[in-house]
Amino acid sequence: MLTYKMLHQKPEAVIRLLKVHERKHNRQYYSRVRDKHHTEQDPAALAARFIYLNKTCFNGLYRVNKAGKFNVPIGRHNKVTICDEKNLMAVSSVLDKATLRMSQFDKITPAEGDLVYCDPPYDGTFTGYTGAGFGEADQKRLQATCEKWRQAGVHVIVSNNDTPLIRRLYSKWNLHEVHAPRNINCNGNGRGKVAELLISG
Ligand SMILES: C[S@@+](CC[C@H](N)C(=O)[O-])C[C@H]1O[C@@H](n2cnc3c(N)ncnc32)[C@H](O)[C@@H]1O
Repeated sequence: MLTYKMLHQKPEAVIRLLKVHERKHNRQYYSRVRDKHHTEQDPAALAARFIYLNKTCFNGLYRVNKAGKFNVPIGRHNKVTICDEKNLMAVSSVLDKATLRMSQFDKITPAEGDLVYCDPPYDGTFTGYTGAGFGEADQKRLQATCEKWRQAGVHVIVSNNDTPLIRRLYSKWNLHEVHAPRNINCNGNGRGKVAELLISG
């Protein structure tokens, strides 16, 4: 959220700091930046650090340890684009039209005719990124919330893995199978094309 906010408000500052990371990037530098937990205060520098680590870590994975410290090792890239200035400026202008808010999914109150897209942690994959996890009970709670919205005339789209649980939960919805290329997966063998569902109601 902070990264989105900073890209919106101060894209030039984030890009300038990201270019420094790009110039200095190597194995030792990555470890130094990664291990600077909770010491960086400047919001633009925090955003640049987040983008730098996301681009250079293993598979773009976000994972923290029990102490809340980012602990993903460096990725195996031959060449990696760290600062895509044009794209970051485009993201910045698109954010002009957005209002960012962070909340539990069941605390939002969409109105009739609104479109809600839910991109939850996917069933059957590693969801313990932040310690809180997202298990079967959460998937059920999300489905119940989506059902409530649907009954109130809200357009709802949900993406998730194509698993028996998700098919059961959304059996009365429209299910579209998609085969999405994925780079992020805790199990390296599971990478590549994964069967997913785009669910609409
Ligand atoms: C598959 S990712 C979505 C990624 C997102 N589409 C993006 O491009 O950044 C799942 C997200 O659900 C969030 N999440 C987990 N539990 C949640 C909850 N109870 N309410 C709202 N969001 C939650 C996670 O923090 C994570 O960012």
